[in-house]
Amino acid sequence: MTTLIYPTTNLKKTEQLNIVRGEGVYIYDDEGNQYLEGLAGLWCSALGYGNAELIEAITRQLHTLSYSHMFGGRTHQVGMDLANKLGAMLPVADAKIFLANSGSEANDSHIKMLHYYFNVVGKPQKKKIIALQRSYHGVTMASAALTGLPANHTHFDIPVDALGILRADAPHYYRGRLAGETEAGFTARLIANLEQLILREGPDTIAAYIAEPVTGASGVVVPPENYFADVQRLLKKYDILFWADEVICGFGRTGNDFGSTTMGIQPQLMTLAKQLSSAYIPISAAVIPGTMYEAMVEPSAQVGVFGHGYTYTGHPVACAAALKTLEIFERDRLFEHAARMGKYMQERLREFQNHPLVGEVRGKGLIAAVELVKNKKTGEAFADGKLGAFTTQACLQNGLSLRAVAGNSIAFCPPLIITSAQIDEMLDKFTRALESTLVYAQHEKMLSL
Ligand SMILES: Cc1ncc(COP(=O)(O)O)c(C=O)c1O
Repeated sequence: MTTLIYPTTNLKKTEQLNIVRGEGVYIYDDEGNQYLEGLAGLWCSALGYGNAELIEAITRQLHTLSYSHMFGGRTHQVGMDLANKLGAMLPVADAKIFLANSGSEANDSHIKMLHYYFNVVGKPQKKKIIALQRSYHGVTMASAALTGLPANHTHFDIPVDALGILRADAPHYYRGRLAGETEAGFTARLIANLEQLILREGPDTIAAYIAEPVTGASGVVVPPENYFADVQRLLKKYDILFWADEVICGFGRTGNDFGSTTMGIQPQLMTLAKQLSSAYIPISAAVIPGTMYEAMVEPSAQVGVFGHGYTYTGHPVACAAALKTLEIFERDRLFEHAARMGKYMQERLREFQNHPLVGEVRGKGLIAAVELVKNKKTGEAFADGKLGAFTTQACLQNGLSLRAVAGNSIAFCPPLIITSAQIDEMLDKFTRALESTLVYAQHEKMLSL
């Protein structure tokens, strides 16, 4: 064992797989085994591995200006070009963009900017944030408070109450419905609960509502048809900002440019990361509307500085990686390709709906999950994630890299460049892994049929 502390890992099971290189949609381990990367790393490698053009742009930037900061009015062209290009793509009015290094940092930055903004516009009581059960927004102290997954809170003393984070129902019909409840009835109940929460806390104490348009780490939950329309109606009524965490959904993942487009959301705040640079260099963005930015200008001048920023905010090499990634997305019409491939993947995945282990297949575009259940008829979940872990291992043995999320939901999120033949290959491998999972589950008497 090395001296590393591994992230999001059972610390008794470290160093299981040593990946040494990648090419296209494939990765290779130290024994030469090839795996189709069905989760694009951690939902991020949009252009796959070894993209020569991207590597060239990054290398050129390293030779030209390997680092420069952005404190105190310093800037560089590649950073300004990235912000302008990104700003023009976004569905936020007169978008202003703060750059950071990770999704968690961008979400932290958002929380700080919300506090700053509401303080300087004379509404210091308007600070609470509504976040959802079963959501994932990162793991820094503040972004972990937004995250609604127990494993990210246990033993960490996350300051949920201190930050005024309120928790609303997950819009997950399959898991959250009451007996006999229709999808419309489920949505209506959640919206009524949300309105009660807002009224109980006081609308003028709530700054924002944050959601992933389609969730990732919490099981690829696709909210019901009218959920976000109804949420937005409430937020408008009570003057609460919609904050879309697009860290996974952004850039073609759900069949459109942004998950907000797919789900009919007009966000005021957006968080971007991952596919923004196709994961070649870490970079993220916290996007706010121009009006919010304008309100912060004069107060920052009075203090002498807008006192928030990272050493690597606007790192030129990361900016070059992101700018080239966006150029390739546009030139190669990759969002359209991803939409076509997504439609195909969703259709083919629905074939697993009849499998005895599968409770639900869900997803949008090139993101999906197949949830394995103890009882197919009732949807009863397994008490632990043992079977999902077995399936992940069986996938690896069949040359496929996937992850089980939220227990036993097997997540699919391949690079946007995947072809239909590679989707077939991915699902053939998954079929074999699922066959051995069924044999194992029956042998271990894990199913209640
Ligand atoms: C929706 C969402 N938000 C935020 C984050 C945090 O991003 P990072 O891991 O880059 O800090 C993630 C990471 O998976 C995510 O999926």
